[in-house]
Amino acid sequence: MPMSRGHQPRCVLVTGGAGFIGSNFLLRMVPRYPEVTFLNLDKLTYAGNLMNLRSIEHANNYAFVRGDVADMALMQSLFAQYHFDSIVHFAAESHVDRSIMAPVTFVHSNTVGTVTLLEAARQAWTSPQRHPNAYRFLHVSTDEVFGSLDLDAYFTRDTPYDPRSPYSASKAAADHFVRAYAHTYELPVVISNCSNNYGPYQFPEKLIPLVISRAVQGQAIPIYGKGANVRDWLHVEDHCDALDLILHRGIVGDTYLVGGNNERTNLDLVRLLLTLVDDRLGHAAGHSQQLITFVADRPGHDFRYAISAAHLQRTLGWQPRYSLESGLRQTVAWYLDHRDWLQQVIDRSYRDYFQAQYGIV
Ligand code: NAD
Ligand code: TYD
Repeated sequence: MPMSRGHQPRCVLVTGGAGFIGSNFLLRMVPRYPEVTFLNLDKLTYAGNLMNLRSIEHANNYAFVRGDVADMALMQSLFAQYHFDSIVHFAAESHVDRSIMAPVTFVHSNTVGTVTLLEAARQAWTSPQRHPNAYRFLHVSTDEVFGSLDLDAYFTRDTPYDPRSPYSASKAAADHFVRAYAHTYELPVVISNCSNNYGPYQFPEKLIPLVISRAVQGQAIPIYGKGANVRDWLHVEDHCDALDLILHRGIVGDTYLVGGNNERTNLDLVRLLLTLVDDRLGHAAGHSQQLITFVADRPGHDFRYAISAAHLQRTLGWQPRYSLESGLRQTVAWYLDHRDWLQQVIDRSYRDYFQAQYGIV
Protein backbone atom coordinates (compact mmCIF):
# COMPACT_ATOMS: atom_id res chain seq x y z
CA MET A 1 0.00 0.00 0.00
CA PRO A 2 1.75 3.20 -1.11
CA MET A 3 -0.21 5.56 1.13
CA SER A 4 0.40 6.10 4.83
CA ARG A 5 -2.77 8.09 5.65
CA GLY A 6 -6.39 7.57 4.79
CA HIS A 7 -8.41 4.38 4.55
CA GLN A 8 -6.59 1.02 4.70
CA PRO A 9 -8.87 -1.68 3.24
CA ARG A 10 -8.67 -5.23 4.57
CA CYS A 11 -11.79 -6.79 3.07
CA VAL A 12 -13.39 -5.23 0.00
CA LEU A 13 -16.81 -6.02 -1.47
CA VAL A 14 -16.61 -5.35 -5.21
CA THR A 15 -20.04 -5.40 -6.83
CA GLY A 16 -20.30 -5.96 -10.58
CA GLY A 17 -16.75 -7.30 -10.68
CA ALA A 18 -17.46 -9.53 -13.68
CA GLY A 19 -18.34 -6.56 -15.89
CA PHE A 20 -16.04 -4.40 -17.95
CA ILE A 21 -14.66 -1.92 -15.39
CA GLY A 22 -15.10 -4.21 -12.39
CA SER A 23 -13.07 -7.02 -13.94
CA ASN A 24 -10.30 -4.60 -14.96
CA PHE A 25 -10.33 -3.28 -11.38
CA LEU A 26 -10.03 -6.78 -9.86
CA LEU A 27 -7.36 -7.87 -12.34
CA ARG A 28 -5.26 -4.91 -11.15
CA MET A 29 -6.07 -4.84 -7.43
CA VAL A 30 -6.04 -8.55 -6.46
CA PRO A 31 -2.33 -8.97 -7.34
CA ARG A 32 -1.47 -5.40 -6.23
CA TYR A 33 -2.78 -5.93 -2.68
CA PRO A 34 -2.21 -9.60 -1.73
CA GLU A 35 -2.95 -8.87 1.96
CA VAL A 36 -6.43 -7.52 1.11
CA THR A 37 -9.41 -9.87 0.52
CA PHE A 38 -11.67 -9.07 -2.45
CA LEU A 39 -15.16 -10.55 -2.72
CA ASN A 40 -16.76 -10.15 -6.14
CA LEU A 41 -20.58 -10.09 -6.00
CA ASP A 42 -22.11 -10.18 -9.45
CA LYS A 43 -25.48 -11.21 -10.85
CA LEU A 44 -23.87 -12.32 -14.12
CA THR A 45 -26.28 -10.57 -16.42
CA TYR A 46 -25.46 -10.68 -20.12
CA ALA A 47 -22.69 -8.13 -19.33
CA GLY A 48 -20.99 -10.18 -16.61
CA ASN A 49 -18.33 -12.59 -17.73
CA LEU A 50 -16.27 -14.79 -15.41
CA MET A 51 -13.90 -15.60 -18.26
CA ASN A 52 -12.45 -12.11 -17.74
CA LEU A 53 -11.23 -13.14 -14.29
CA ARG A 54 -9.50 -16.40 -15.15
CA SER A 55 -6.04 -15.16 -14.17
CA ILE A 56 -7.13 -14.40 -10.59
CA GLU A 57 -9.91 -16.94 -9.99
CA HIS A 58 -7.62 -19.13 -7.85
CA ALA A 59 -5.89 -16.30 -5.98
CA ASN A 60 -5.96 -16.72 -2.18
CA ASN A 61 -7.33 -13.21 -1.67
CA TYR A 62 -10.21 -13.47 -4.18
CA ALA A 63 -13.67 -15.07 -4.06
CA PHE A 64 -16.80 -14.88 -6.19
CA VAL A 65 -20.48 -15.01 -5.22
CA ARG A 66 -23.26 -14.88 -7.75
CA GLY A 67 -26.17 -12.70 -6.63
CA ASP A 68 -28.27 -9.59 -7.02
CA VAL A 69 -27.13 -6.47 -5.19
CA ALA A 70 -30.80 -5.66 -4.60
CA ASP A 71 -31.24 -8.87 -2.56
CA MET A 72 -31.16 -7.54 1.04
CA ALA A 73 -30.98 -10.95 2.74
CA LEU A 74 -27.98 -11.90 0.62
CA MET A 75 -26.24 -8.58 1.29
CA GLN A 76 -26.79 -8.92 5.05
CA SER A 77 -25.45 -12.46 5.07
CA LEU A 78 -22.35 -11.42 3.09
CA PHE A 79 -21.63 -8.58 5.53
CA ALA A 80 -22.06 -11.00 8.46
CA GLN A 81 -19.73 -13.53 6.85
CA TYR A 82 -16.98 -11.26 5.49
CA HIS A 83 -17.03 -8.14 7.73
CA PHE A 84 -16.27 -5.85 4.80
CA ASP A 85 -14.61 -2.56 5.65
CA SER A 86 -14.73 -1.28 2.05
CA ILE A 87 -17.18 -1.36 -0.84
CA VAL A 88 -16.45 -0.51 -4.44
CA HIS A 89 -19.85 -0.44 -6.07
CA PHE A 90 -19.81 -1.00 -9.84
CA ALA A 91 -22.87 -3.23 -10.28
CA ALA A 92 -25.34 -1.63 -12.65
CA GLU A 93 -27.12 -1.93 -15.94
CA SER A 94 -24.87 0.32 -18.00
CA HIS A 95 -26.07 0.62 -21.60
CA VAL A 96 -28.10 3.71 -22.53
CA ASP A 97 -29.75 2.02 -25.53
CA ARG A 98 -30.98 -0.87 -23.37
CA SER A 99 -32.30 1.63 -20.82
CA ILE A 100 -34.41 3.19 -23.56
CA MET A 101 -35.85 -0.24 -24.40
CA ALA A 102 -36.35 -1.52 -20.81
CA PRO A 103 -36.04 1.19 -18.14
CA VAL A 104 -37.47 -0.72 -15.15
CA THR A 105 -34.51 -3.11 -14.96
CA PHE A 106 -32.30 -0.03 -14.56
CA VAL A 107 -34.31 1.22 -11.60
CA HIS A 108 -34.03 -2.21 -9.98
CA SER A 109 -30.28 -2.72 -10.34
CA ASN A 110 -28.97 0.83 -10.33
CA THR A 111 -31.27 2.56 -7.85
CA VAL A 112 -32.85 -0.14 -5.65
CA GLY A 113 -29.59 -2.12 -5.76
CA THR A 114 -27.60 0.88 -4.52
CA VAL A 115 -30.08 1.67 -1.74
CA THR A 116 -30.05 -1.98 -0.64
CA LEU A 117 -26.27 -1.95 -0.44
CA LEU A 118 -26.25 1.37 1.45
CA GLU A 119 -28.74 -0.02 3.94
CA ALA A 120 -26.76 -3.24 4.45
CA ALA A 121 -23.60 -1.16 5.03
CA ARG A 122 -25.42 1.15 7.48
CA GLN A 123 -26.64 -1.86 9.47
CA ALA A 124 -23.18 -3.45 9.54
CA TRP A 125 -21.07 -0.34 10.19
CA THR A 126 -22.74 0.69 13.42
CA SER A 127 -19.87 0.85 15.91
CA PRO A 128 -20.21 4.27 17.64
CA GLN A 129 -16.46 4.40 18.27
CA ARG A 130 -15.60 3.73 14.68
CA HIS A 131 -12.53 5.53 13.44
CA PRO A 132 -13.36 8.02 10.67
CA ASN A 133 -11.17 6.05 8.27
CA ALA A 134 -12.39 2.58 9.30
CA TYR A 135 -14.93 2.13 6.49
CA ARG A 136 -15.41 3.35 2.95
CA PHE A 137 -18.31 3.07 0.48
CA LEU A 138 -17.02 4.08 -2.97
CA HIS A 139 -19.91 4.58 -5.34
CA VAL A 140 -18.89 4.46 -9.00
CA SER A 141 -21.09 6.78 -11.01
CA THR A 142 -21.12 8.47 -14.37
CA ASP A 143 -20.77 11.95 -15.85
CA GLU A 144 -24.10 11.30 -17.61
CA VAL A 145 -25.93 12.39 -14.42
CA PHE A 146 -24.98 15.98 -15.34
CA GLY A 147 -26.87 15.89 -18.64
CA SER A 148 -25.60 17.25 -21.93
CA LEU A 149 -23.16 20.09 -22.69
CA ASP A 150 -22.86 22.58 -25.51
CA LEU A 151 -19.46 22.96 -27.06
CA ASP A 152 -17.64 25.18 -24.59
CA ALA A 153 -18.27 24.06 -20.97
CA TYR A 154 -17.06 21.24 -18.69
CA PHE A 155 -18.74 19.19 -16.00
CA THR A 156 -17.37 20.04 -12.56
CA ARG A 157 -18.33 18.91 -9.04
CA ASP A 158 -20.68 21.89 -8.89
CA THR A 159 -22.60 21.13 -12.08
CA PRO A 160 -26.31 20.58 -11.23
CA TYR A 161 -27.74 17.16 -11.95
CA ASP A 162 -29.80 16.97 -15.16
CA PRO A 163 -30.09 13.30 -16.20
CA ARG A 164 -31.83 12.79 -19.51
CA SER A 165 -31.91 9.03 -20.22
CA PRO A 166 -33.43 6.26 -18.09
CA TYR A 167 -29.87 5.03 -17.47
CA SER A 168 -28.57 8.38 -16.24
CA ALA A 169 -31.76 9.01 -14.23
CA SER A 170 -31.33 5.69 -12.42
CA LYS A 171 -27.68 6.50 -11.66
CA ALA A 172 -28.54 10.06 -10.55
CA ALA A 173 -31.18 8.67 -8.17
CA ALA A 174 -28.54 6.31 -6.77
CA ASP A 175 -26.08 9.20 -6.29
CA HIS A 176 -28.75 11.15 -4.37
CA PHE A 177 -29.35 8.18 -2.07
CA VAL A 178 -25.60 7.84 -1.46
CA ARG A 179 -25.44 11.51 -0.38
CA ALA A 180 -28.61 11.10 1.70
CA TYR A 181 -27.00 8.20 3.60
CA ALA A 182 -23.87 10.30 4.17
CA HIS A 183 -25.91 13.24 5.44
CA THR A 184 -28.48 11.35 7.51
CA TYR A 185 -26.48 8.41 8.87
CA GLU A 186 -22.90 9.69 8.45
CA LEU A 187 -22.13 6.71 6.24
CA PRO A 188 -18.52 7.22 5.02
CA VAL A 189 -19.14 7.51 1.30
CA VAL A 190 -17.09 8.80 -1.62
CA ILE A 191 -18.56 9.27 -5.11
CA SER A 192 -16.72 9.18 -8.42
CA ASN A 193 -18.29 10.27 -11.71
CA CYS A 194 -16.32 9.32 -14.77
CA SER A 195 -16.48 9.79 -18.51
CA ASN A 196 -16.75 7.09 -21.20
CA ASN A 197 -14.33 4.24 -20.52
CA TYR A 198 -12.70 2.05 -23.14
CA GLY A 199 -10.20 -0.81 -23.05
CA PRO A 200 -10.05 -4.62 -22.77
CA TYR A 201 -13.10 -6.71 -21.76
CA GLN A 202 -15.79 -4.21 -22.75
CA PHE A 203 -19.00 -5.80 -23.95
CA PRO A 204 -19.24 -5.18 -27.72
CA GLU A 205 -22.53 -3.32 -27.61
CA LYS A 206 -20.56 -0.20 -26.60
CA LEU A 207 -19.12 1.95 -29.37
CA ILE A 208 -15.40 1.11 -29.34
CA PRO A 209 -15.51 -2.73 -29.13
CA LEU A 210 -18.52 -2.68 -31.46
CA VAL A 211 -16.52 -0.82 -34.12
CA ILE A 212 -13.50 -3.10 -33.75
CA SER A 213 -15.50 -6.34 -33.86
CA ARG A 214 -17.61 -5.27 -36.82
CA ALA A 215 -14.58 -3.99 -38.74
CA VAL A 216 -12.90 -7.37 -38.31
CA GLN A 217 -16.00 -9.06 -39.75
CA GLY A 218 -16.36 -6.47 -42.55
CA GLN A 219 -19.82 -5.52 -41.23
CA ALA A 220 -21.52 -2.12 -41.44
CA ILE A 221 -20.64 0.22 -38.56
CA PRO A 222 -23.67 2.18 -37.36
CA ILE A 223 -23.11 5.86 -36.51
CA TYR A 224 -26.09 7.49 -34.84
CA GLY A 225 -27.28 10.71 -36.50
CA LYS A 226 -24.42 12.61 -38.13
CA GLY A 227 -21.73 11.35 -35.76
CA ALA A 228 -21.32 14.88 -34.37
CA ASN A 229 -21.93 13.94 -30.71
CA VAL A 230 -18.88 14.35 -28.52
CA ARG A 231 -17.60 12.00 -25.81
CA ASP A 232 -14.57 12.30 -23.49
CA TRP A 233 -12.69 8.97 -23.55
CA LEU A 234 -10.84 7.47 -20.58
CA HIS A 235 -8.77 4.28 -20.63
CA VAL A 236 -10.20 1.80 -18.11
CA GLU A 237 -6.80 1.21 -16.46
CA ASP A 238 -6.44 4.94 -15.77
CA HIS A 239 -9.95 4.89 -14.30
CA CYS A 240 -9.12 1.90 -12.06
CA ASP A 241 -5.97 3.58 -10.78
CA ALA A 242 -8.02 6.69 -9.99
CA LEU A 243 -10.49 4.52 -8.04
CA ASP A 244 -7.59 2.93 -6.14
CA LEU A 245 -6.44 6.41 -5.08
CA ILE A 246 -9.96 7.57 -4.23
CA LEU A 247 -10.64 4.46 -2.12
CA HIS A 248 -7.47 4.96 -0.08
CA ARG A 249 -7.15 8.72 0.10
CA GLY A 250 -10.45 10.23 -0.98
CA ILE A 251 -12.05 12.54 1.56
CA VAL A 252 -15.27 11.17 3.08
CA GLY A 253 -18.27 12.90 1.54
CA ASP A 254 -16.29 14.24 -1.42
CA THR A 255 -17.00 13.78 -5.14
CA TYR A 256 -14.25 13.09 -7.67
CA LEU A 257 -14.71 13.58 -11.40
CA VAL A 258 -12.52 11.31 -13.55
CA GLY A 259 -11.98 12.12 -17.22
CA GLY A 260 -9.34 11.60 -19.85
CA ASN A 261 -9.49 15.07 -21.45
CA ASN A 262 -9.83 13.24 -24.76
CA GLU A 263 -12.82 14.69 -26.53
CA ARG A 264 -13.71 13.49 -30.01
CA THR A 265 -16.82 13.51 -32.14
CA ASN A 266 -18.09 9.98 -32.68
CA LEU A 267 -17.26 10.19 -36.37
CA ASP A 268 -13.67 11.30 -35.75
CA LEU A 269 -13.23 8.58 -33.15
CA VAL A 270 -14.57 5.85 -35.44
CA ARG A 271 -12.38 7.03 -38.33
CA LEU A 272 -9.31 6.91 -36.09
CA LEU A 273 -10.25 3.45 -34.80
CA LEU A 274 -10.73 2.10 -38.31
CA THR A 275 -7.33 3.48 -39.30
CA LEU A 276 -5.74 1.65 -36.37
CA VAL A 277 -7.60 -1.59 -37.19
CA ASP A 278 -6.55 -1.44 -40.86
CA ASP A 279 -2.98 -0.68 -39.82
CA ARG A 280 -2.88 -3.66 -37.46
CA LEU A 281 -4.50 -6.05 -39.96
CA GLY A 282 -2.21 -4.91 -42.80
CA HIS A 283 -5.10 -3.56 -44.87
CA ALA A 284 -4.61 -0.68 -47.29
CA ALA A 285 -5.16 2.73 -45.70
CA GLY A 286 -8.87 3.61 -45.82
CA HIS A 287 -9.98 0.00 -46.41
CA SER A 288 -12.54 -0.10 -43.56
CA GLN A 289 -13.80 3.49 -43.78
CA GLN A 290 -16.43 2.39 -46.30
CA LEU A 291 -18.14 0.39 -43.53
CA ILE A 292 -19.32 3.60 -41.82
CA THR A 293 -23.12 3.71 -42.07
CA PHE A 294 -25.20 6.57 -40.74
CA VAL A 295 -28.35 5.34 -38.97
CA ALA A 296 -31.27 6.91 -37.10
CA ASP A 297 -30.20 8.87 -34.05
CA ARG A 298 -30.67 7.60 -30.48
CA PRO A 299 -33.82 9.17 -28.95
CA GLY A 300 -32.81 12.04 -26.65
CA HIS A 301 -29.14 11.56 -27.60
CA ASP A 302 -26.97 13.70 -25.26
CA PHE A 303 -24.82 15.96 -27.43
CA ARG A 304 -21.60 16.29 -25.46
CA TYR A 305 -19.97 15.06 -22.27
CA ALA A 306 -16.69 16.58 -21.05
CA ILE A 307 -15.16 16.37 -17.60
CA SER A 308 -12.82 18.59 -15.66
CA ALA A 309 -10.70 16.23 -13.54
CA ALA A 310 -8.81 19.18 -12.00
CA HIS A 311 -9.99 18.43 -8.43
CA LEU A 312 -8.79 14.80 -8.59
CA GLN A 313 -5.49 15.84 -10.13
CA ARG A 314 -4.89 18.62 -7.62
CA THR A 315 -5.95 16.80 -4.44
CA LEU A 316 -4.85 13.21 -5.10
CA GLY A 317 -2.21 13.74 -7.80
CA TRP A 318 -3.91 11.47 -10.35
CA GLN A 319 -2.78 11.65 -13.98
CA PRO A 320 -3.88 9.39 -16.83
CA ARG A 321 -1.04 7.36 -18.33
CA TYR A 322 -2.64 6.80 -21.72
CA SER A 323 -3.12 9.36 -24.47
CA LEU A 324 -6.17 8.62 -26.63
CA GLU A 325 -4.00 7.34 -29.47
CA SER A 326 -1.81 5.09 -27.27
CA GLY A 327 -4.88 3.79 -25.44
CA LEU A 328 -6.79 3.04 -28.64
CA ARG A 329 -3.73 1.34 -30.14
CA GLN A 330 -3.44 -0.91 -27.06
CA THR A 331 -7.20 -1.57 -27.14
CA VAL A 332 -7.32 -2.45 -30.85
CA ALA A 333 -4.35 -4.79 -30.37
CA TRP A 334 -6.06 -6.45 -27.38
CA TYR A 335 -9.33 -7.13 -29.23
CA LEU A 336 -7.54 -8.38 -32.33
CA ASP A 337 -5.43 -10.69 -30.14
CA HIS A 338 -8.56 -11.87 -28.27
CA ARG A 339 -10.89 -12.60 -31.15
CA ASP A 340 -11.89 -15.82 -29.42
CA TRP A 341 -13.09 -13.78 -26.40
CA LEU A 342 -14.95 -11.41 -28.68
CA GLN A 343 -16.58 -14.23 -30.61
CA GLN A 344 -17.63 -16.08 -27.48
CA VAL A 345 -19.12 -12.94 -25.98
CA ILE A 346 -20.93 -12.20 -29.19
CA ASP A 347 -22.47 -15.62 -29.68
CA ARG A 348 -22.97 -16.17 -25.93
CA SER A 349 -21.37 -19.61 -26.11
CA TYR A 350 -19.43 -18.60 -23.02
CA ARG A 351 -22.51 -19.76 -21.09
CA ASP A 352 -21.19 -23.26 -21.75
CA TYR A 353 -17.99 -22.18 -20.03
CA PHE A 354 -19.93 -21.07 -16.95
CA GLN A 355 -21.83 -24.34 -16.92
CA ALA A 356 -18.66 -26.37 -17.20
CA GLN A 357 -16.57 -24.32 -14.76
CA TYR A 358 -19.06 -23.18 -12.17
CA GLY A 359 -22.27 -25.19 -12.67
CA ILE A 360 -24.19 -22.03 -13.48
CA VAL A 361 -25.73 -20.73 -16.67
P1 NAD B 1 -20.96 -3.51 -17.36
O1 NAD B 1 -22.36 -3.47 -17.89
O2 NAD B 1 -19.84 -3.96 -18.23
O3 NAD B 1 -20.91 -4.43 -16.04
C1 NAD B 1 -21.89 -4.36 -15.05
C2 NAD B 1 -21.74 -5.57 -14.15
O4 NAD B 1 -22.72 -5.46 -13.12
C3 NAD B 1 -21.98 -6.89 -14.88
O5 NAD B 1 -21.01 -7.83 -14.51
C4 NAD B 1 -23.36 -7.32 -14.39
O6 NAD B 1 -23.52 -8.73 -14.35
C5 NAD B 1 -23.40 -6.71 -13.00
N1 NAD B 1 -24.77 -6.44 -12.52
C6 NAD B 1 -25.77 -5.80 -13.17
N2 NAD B 1 -26.86 -5.74 -12.41
C7 NAD B 1 -26.54 -6.34 -11.23
C8 NAD B 1 -27.24 -6.59 -10.03
N3 NAD B 1 -28.52 -6.22 -9.88
N4 NAD B 1 -26.60 -7.22 -9.01
C9 NAD B 1 -25.31 -7.62 -9.15
N5 NAD B 1 -24.59 -7.42 -10.28
C10 NAD B 1 -25.21 -6.79 -11.30
O7 NAD B 1 -20.69 -2.03 -16.80
P2 NAD B 1 -19.33 -1.22 -16.68
O8 NAD B 1 -19.09 -0.51 -17.96
O9 NAD B 1 -18.30 -2.11 -16.13
O10 NAD B 1 -19.74 -0.11 -15.61
C11 NAD B 1 -19.49 -0.33 -14.22
C12 NAD B 1 -19.99 0.87 -13.44
O11 NAD B 1 -19.33 2.05 -13.91
C13 NAD B 1 -21.48 1.13 -13.61
O12 NAD B 1 -22.01 1.52 -12.35
C14 NAD B 1 -21.57 2.28 -14.60
O13 NAD B 1 -22.70 3.08 -14.37
C15 NAD B 1 -20.28 3.04 -14.26
N6 NAD B 1 -19.73 3.79 -15.40
C16 NAD B 1 -19.38 3.17 -16.56
C17 NAD B 1 -18.84 3.91 -17.62
C18 NAD B 1 -18.40 3.25 -18.90
O14 NAD B 1 -17.98 3.97 -19.82
N7 NAD B 1 -18.44 1.95 -19.03
C19 NAD B 1 -18.68 5.29 -17.49
C20 NAD B 1 -19.07 5.90 -16.28
C21 NAD B 1 -19.58 5.14 -15.24
P1 TYD C 1 -21.89 4.23 -25.97
O1 TYD C 1 -20.64 3.46 -26.11
O2 TYD C 1 -23.20 3.50 -25.99
O3 TYD C 1 -21.76 5.13 -24.64
P2 TYD C 1 -22.71 6.32 -24.06
O4 TYD C 1 -24.01 6.29 -24.75
O5 TYD C 1 -22.83 5.95 -22.62
O6 TYD C 1 -21.93 7.59 -24.30
O7 TYD C 1 -21.96 5.31 -27.13
C1 TYD C 1 -20.92 6.27 -27.29
C2 TYD C 1 -21.38 7.25 -28.36
O8 TYD C 1 -21.44 6.55 -29.61
C3 TYD C 1 -22.77 7.80 -28.13
O9 TYD C 1 -22.80 9.17 -28.55
C4 TYD C 1 -23.66 6.96 -29.02
C5 TYD C 1 -22.76 6.60 -30.17
N1 TYD C 1 -22.98 5.30 -30.82
C6 TYD C 1 -23.10 5.21 -32.20
O10 TYD C 1 -23.03 6.22 -32.92
N2 TYD C 1 -23.29 3.97 -32.76
C7 TYD C 1 -23.37 2.84 -32.00
O11 TYD C 1 -23.57 1.74 -32.57
C8 TYD C 1 -23.24 2.94 -30.58
C9 TYD C 1 -23.32 1.73 -29.71
C10 TYD C 1 -23.05 4.20 -30.04
